[in-house]
This record gives sequence, C-alpha cells and structure tokens, in this order.
Amino acid sequence: MCASATRRVFPLVARTLIVFACLAGTAVAETEYVRPPPRRVIFTEHTESASHPQQVHVSLVGADHMRVSWVTDDKHAPSVVEYGVVSGNYTASTAGDHTSYRYFLYTSGKIHHVTIGPLEPSTVYYYRCGRAGHEFSLRTPPSALPIELAVAGDLGQTEWTASTLAHVSKADYDVLLVPGDLSYADTQQPLWDTFGRFVQRHASRRPWMVTQGNHEVEAAALPFNVPGAPRPFAAYEARWRTPHEESGSPSGLYYSFDAAGGAVHVVMLGSYAPFNASSEQYAWLKRDLAGVDRENTPWLVVLLHAPWYNTNAAHQGEGEAMRKAMERVLYEARVDVVFAGHVHAYERFTRVYDNKANPCGPVYITIGDGGNREGLAFDFQKNHKLAPLSVMREASFGHGRLRVVNATAAHWAWHRNDDADSVVRDELWLESLATSAECGKRADPGSARGSPIDEL
Ligand SMILES: *[C@@H]1O[C@H](CO)[C@@H](O)[C@H](O)[C@H]1NC(C)=O
Ligand SMILES: *[C@@H]1O[C@H](CO)[C@@H](O)[C@H](O)[C@H]1NC(C)=O
Ligand SMILES: *[C@@H]1O[C@H](CO)[C@@H](O)[C@H](O)[C@H]1NC(C)=O
Repeated sequence: MCASATRRVFPLVARTLIVFACLAGTAVAETEYVRPPPRRVIFTEHTESASHPQQVHVSLVGADHMRVSWVTDDKHAPSVVEYGVVSGNYTASTAGDHTSYRYFLYTSGKIHHVTIGPLEPSTVYYYRCGRAGHEFSLRTPPSALPIELAVAGDLGQTEWTASTLAHVSKADYDVLLVPGDLSYADTQQPLWDTFGRFVQRHASRRPWMVTQGNHEVEAAALPFNVPGAPRPFAAYEARWRTPHEESGSPSGLYYSFDAAGGAVHVVMLGSYAPFNASSEQYAWLKRDLAGVDRENTPWLVVLLHAPWYNTNAAHQGEGEAMRKAMERVLYEARVDVVFAGHVHAYERFTRVYDNKANPCGPVYITIGDGGNREGLAFDFQKNHKLAPLSVMREASFGHGRLRVVNATAAHWAWHRNDDADSVVRDELWLESLATSAECGKRADPGSARGSPIDEL
C-alpha cells in the first residue's frame, strides 16, 4: 500500500526517499493525506425584520414531544409554534415561554422555547415560529429500531464546520448528538447569534441533543465578586435548553433521554458540573442508570466533553478526575459506548475499564473534530501508556454515525471530511453488552474486584 500510494503522488527522486521512510516505519501513511489547517469563521447575518424568527433549532423532550427554540430581536414577538403534517396547513398551535439574558453590555434577543406534541414518530411536520417568517420542517425520530445517530463535537462556525454539517445531512439520520463546544463564542455573545443562524438549516430539521464543553462555561474572569456579573453557562442554558427535568436531573448540564422507543438510552454527562461521589450529578447518574432495564433497553450510550481516554498531548489528563469518580458506575451499568469531544482529532479505543482492555467495558471514542477555528490536534503520543489500547486515531475534521440496527448490533462509522467528500475512515460493528453472553446479566469476568454484578 505504501508503494502504490507513493507512485501516484511523488516523482522518482522523492520516491526513493519515501521508500526509506516506508522502511523506517509508518511515517509515509501520514504523507498520503495532508491534514488540513483551520479555515475562516463564517459570520452569518440576520437580514430580516426584528420580529422574524432566527436561530431556529429543535430538540427532543420525552418520548413524543419536541422543543422548538428560536430568537427574535423583537421583544413583543409571540412564543407560539403552529404546526401540522401538511405544508401550510397548521392543524395545531402551541404556546411556550421565553427567556433572555445579559452579559455585561450585551442583551440577548427574546429566546423562545415551545414544546410541541404529542407527535407521531418518523413523521415530517411543517411548522412556523411566532406566526411570522418562513415555514420550517422537521422529522421526528422512529419509535423503534433502527435509528441513526450522527455525532459531531467541537463544532464552532467555520468553513470546516459547514463542511462537517453538510456531510452529516448528505445521508439521512435521525438525531445529532453533540459532546460539547458549540459556538466558540468565548464570551463574545454576538457569536452565539451567528452560530444559531449558521446551524439553523440543519438544527431546524433534526433534533440536536447537546451537552456542554469548556467553551460553554464563559465565566466572567473577575478578581472579585461583581453584583450582576454573568454566571457560567448563561448563554448556553438560555439558548440550548436541555430536557433535564424529564430525566429527573436537577441541572441543565446533565440529563438523559430515550430514543427508538427506549431501545437506546443516551446519557449526557457534564464535564464542567461537579461529578465526584458527593455531587448531585453522581447521585443522579446512579439513579438514572438504575432505572434502565437492559431487557428493554439493549443500548446505553454516554456523551461527555473531556475524554477519559486520550493519547494526545492536547488536554492530556483533563478527564482523569471524572474518570476516577464515575468510570465504575458506567462499567457496572455495561455502557456500550462513550463519546467525548475536547481533543480536536478522532480516536477510538478498544473496550476498556480502568486503563486495561476489558471485553465488558465501553468503547471510548473521541470525536472533537467538528471544525472549529482552533484547528486540529497533531500530537499523538506513540509512547503513551494507553497507546496499545488506541485502535484508530487520525487528526482530521469529520463526523461519526452510529446506526443502531437491532437489539444486538450497531454499526459505527467515522467519516473524514476530504474537502467536499465525506470518506469513511473507521468503522466497526458493535455488539450490545446487554445481550452479550459474556457481559450480560450476572456474568462479570472482567471486574477489577472480581465481584459479581448484581445490578444491571
Ligand atoms: C387542513 O387539514 C385539515 C385536517 O386534516 C383538513 O380538514 C383541511 O381540509 C386541510 N385544509 C387544506 C386547505 O388543505
Ligand atoms: C467533592 O467535591 C467537593 C467540592 O466540589 C468537595 O468539597 C468534596 O470534599 C468532594 N468529595 C469527595 C468525596 O471527593
Ligand atoms: C441484527 O443485525 C445484524 C446486522 O445486520 C444481523 O447480523 C443480526 O442477525 C441481527 N439480529 C437479529 C436478532 O435480528
């Protein structure tokens, strides 16, 4: 493979040099694909009237409802969504609520949130926000398997982000999962508005389910306590409201939801909310997982921002405290996959528990390569102690797709952005740990303590 690739690309003299590189190791594999630099930020403007809805996005709320969220500059625009299954014929209308927030001199527009439903599964609904502006359409997810979950982290709003989202939409999917770092506004609040407009064409059509990253924290870096200073996550929580009450979570920073009629349970953890054994998040996670019946829910998927397993120098060790606090809880619940962002590269580990390969541990996947302006992480550490557990790693922009086919099988594929093309660079079939003979009920061959798992 080394030789054929070099023949295509390099003239004779260079080829000779590259043959030496081939003999020397894997260096040439990296010359075959030139990892791209970051691209420019796209600032999406609002050119319509103040009452015209903008930044429209939808998210799941419970089994058969969806939240429609949007912003108007006009403070008097109504928080109403009209919708129906025929374009232009709105047979239902629902009112919701609104919020806004201040960040020093910035005041947000009116942020509307309206929960519509009950909705039929796998159905296209046409809707209009605030009785003004264009019609949008969304499709509800299926109420049974199969379901296709797209995954993209660390998005930002650059030309690479546009490319990633175009690739996500090019093939059909049901829900987009985002393991944190959305706008990269980094306290510049108008960038939350440009981001909302930038993603609207995708986020208004399919539910986006998000958790927070470090770029959502936006704590005011003040040396002393200023009255009225913005609190952390002010923009994120006002704009990207999560359905946390529905899963009994006291905080918008962590929650869970079911997909495909409960065949898939997705847990969104908060890397930037307290997570130790005495935290509310920890207690909630234990409660939430205890309520999952793996007979009816063969798939358990977790998202968080700062990866627990990572062989890059970038952000090395940042997820370690959370791993130490929570890894055992996920392991005992037989979580199938854990997606993280934060590191701007793709990396997939084998099934792991407590830094060792373990057939009953989750597959850990870092997918923080959505396209943001900070660019890619190029610093894989070949000598890292976890390197032998890292099956596939590549510093390229891209997205992933988890197609859960049935109770036992799911297909994972990571697609690299090859400019205009989306190329599958990593794929594998996963077997649900709930139905696996080795790791399912009662069996516990890999536990560190060797004690039987009595609670699944
Ligand atoms: C709109 O939908 C309703 C209910 O399905 C139907 O009775 C009505 O004829 C439709 N109107 C138009 C203009 O299509
Ligand atoms: C958990 O974190 C809190 C502060 O966030 C600290 O006060 C407490 O001692 C920690 N508890 C444990 C068990 O580590
Ligand atoms: C689940 O899907 C996989 C992959 O398509 C297939 O091989 C397997 O037979 C299916 N299992 C069941 C129980 O349908």
